[in-house]
Amino acid sequence: MSARVHLERDGDVAVVVIDNPPVNAGSAQVRRGLLEVLETVASDGGIHAAVLIGAGNCFIAGSDLREFGQPLQEPQLPAVIAAIEACDKPVVAALHGAALGGGFELALGCDARVAAAGTVVGLPEVTLGIIPGAGGTQRLPRLVGVPKAIELTCSGARVPSGQALALGLIDCEAQGDLRAAAVAHARGLVGNKARVRDRVVPAADAQAVEQAAAAALKAGKARPAVHAAIEAVMSAAQVPIEEGLASERSAFQALRVSREARALRHQFFAERDSARLPELEGVAPRPVQHVAVIGAGTMGTGIAIAALDAGFDVALLEQDEAALRRGTERIREHYASRVQAGKLKASTAAQCEARLQPTIDWSVLGSSDLVIEAVFEDLDVKRQVFARIDTLARPGAVLASNTSYLDLDAIAGATRRPQDVIGLHFFSPAHVMRLLEVVRGAATAADALATGLVVAKRLRKLPVVTGNAFGFIGNRIYAAYRRQCEFMIEEGAWPAQVDAALEAFGFAMGPFAVADLSGLDIAWRMRQAQAATRDPAARYVHIPDRLCEAGRLGRKTGAGYYVHESGSRGRKSDPAVHTLIERARADKGLVPRTLSDDEIQRRALLAMVNEAARLLAEGVARRASDVDVVLVNGFGFPRWEGGPVFWARERGAEALAQDMDWLADLSGPGFVRGDLCHVLQQLA
Ligand code: NAI
Repeated sequence: MSARVHLERDGDVAVVVIDNPPVNAGSAQVRRGLLEVLETVASDGGIHAAVLIGAGNCFIAGSDLREFGQPLQEPQLPAVIAAIEACDKPVVAALHGAALGGGFELALGCDARVAAAGTVVGLPEVTLGIIPGAGGTQRLPRLVGVPKAIELTCSGARVPSGQALALGLIDCEAQGDLRAAAVAHARGLVGNKARVRDRVVPAADAQAVEQAAAAALKAGKARPAVHAAIEAVMSAAQVPIEEGLASERSAFQALRVSREARALRHQFFAERDSARLPELEGVAPRPVQHVAVIGAGTMGTGIAIAALDAGFDVALLEQDEAALRRGTERIREHYASRVQAGKLKASTAAQCEARLQPTIDWSVLGSSDLVIEAVFEDLDVKRQVFARIDTLARPGAVLASNTSYLDLDAIAGATRRPQDVIGLHFFSPAHVMRLLEVVRGAATAADALATGLVVAKRLRKLPVVTGNAFGFIGNRIYAAYRRQCEFMIEEGAWPAQVDAALEAFGFAMGPFAVADLSGLDIAWRMRQAQAATRDPAARYVHIPDRLCEAGRLGRKTGAGYYVHESGSRGRKSDPAVHTLIERARADKGLVPRTLSDDEIQRRALLAMVNEAARLLAEGVARRASDVDVVLVNGFGFPRWEGGPVFWARERGAEALAQDMDWLADLSGPGFVRGDLCHVLQQLA
């Protein structure tokens, strides 16, 4: 018998235990074990029914994703499910924790599903660029109908047990002991098979099907896996199940080796690994329950909300009552609107708000375990604030700055305890965006860093550790990308063309639309601050400065690279901007030329890759995959392209080297080349 699956007996019911820690991933060994045990179940006259159950804290959280990149090993999952269906004794799936992907498909192959309260079930394959390949698209519609099945498969939603019961995805929610409940359920089925495959797909209104498909395509950006999932689910109502299963399997096989699926798997593993630091193994984080957030502006209030949602006690500090009142009001409005929209229970919102302590009395820092500073982006201001924190915070408290660009060591140097200082660089809106750069200063202690990572997890963020450097990982790569895009408008492209080309590549928004949204003045102030130290020989595009000088600071002033009509989210090209750009070109004696969309996309991406190589060489980014996590989760890089480093690897070493010569030539003086081996090696 396989070490991953064993058979226990409960009278005449066989209890098949899947034991493949940590999450019982459906590996070849598990499948082999299941087949062996099912043979015993079928042939042993003393067994009248069987229960499949997971050891540890879940049923099967999904298939082993590493296997999807290679030829699939026998036996494959459809064969295991076929054996369950062919067995004339009822088989019940006992679900707890998570039953996802192949795990839920296995459960759908059983005669009934009993779940412990709190279990989540679902088919998230589409989020990995594939579709369920073991009958999920054929059995699910037999339980919930085609429109709902389209919605569930295309969104990859994780459905909690209560909702799963209401939908008919599970047959009952176990009160008390799951195993006992499942065994009792199985005994009740003895003598009967209740295969999902034998059910008729409930009739659905054509319009409802169409609507579900249209909504899924829109939400899923019409990616190939979404198309394939819709087609497979719809076919369940049109063809015999054997035919449906066969075409589902072939679509799954084709998608699993697609570039998109590889990119999404890469991103999945990159995110899973981002918080794993071998050197922190065995390092105990410091306990954190009370968090103080200093600065109740845009970021401070978002950070406070994230901390309240995660169950922390939060003190919100400001420099004066008026600013504090504004910030507190923003937080209250946030909770009120969540409740009003039905997204949050009033009681939960009240609990969160009750844990908020707005104050201008800084002595509260004496009882804080973690202090997060989010005041103005000004080194002197931040140093003053940290010096004050130093006099008030208790020994051992972790002191964090949310600075976007400033030198963390200079900030830490304002205290007598730089070992306790880390950066926690949130992205806006801080209660929504998952990415969190955790910055390690030169003196940061291992347990302070470990605390940052644990807090990030509690906040449900995706932490990436970065060294202390201007702009850390994300903003520095983004700045190189934006600079390259500015070169291109100087050479002959229009902002709208650059934005459209990059949005066609898959970016959520092009760089000039982003600049208008966040305000051109932030980067302008930074350029002014750097003017004295800038290499005078380096290429410098004056267009953004000219826009700012003309009062065009973006959306907030109604105009930037585009004009924005009040109240509308749309953007319109502006002839005045074209004139301004033409003048800037003429000032430098540049003759504009036409740039193709391909050139725009390649140059923008190569600029990112080059900067990533530099950050890796400098040790600011620790792993090439971390770069991809940052760009995908913080900067709208299309997840299905895997991130800039994945993109670079796909181009291949030789093409990439040639590309970089080309980019360096076009970029002109001041372009600093990174060594591509850092990008290629680490992913090899
Ligand atoms: P903001 O201007 O909205 O808020 C700053 C708040 O800090 C104001 O309410 C101000 O009254 C308060 N403040 C200033 N000096 C203070 C002092 N000495 N003591 C107490 N409170 C003080 O600024 P925002 O956008 O929230 O930025 C804060 C920090 O977060 C900056 O370091 C910024 O670079 C960083 N950041 C900003 C992002 C953004 O998208 N806005 C994204 C990521 C980081």
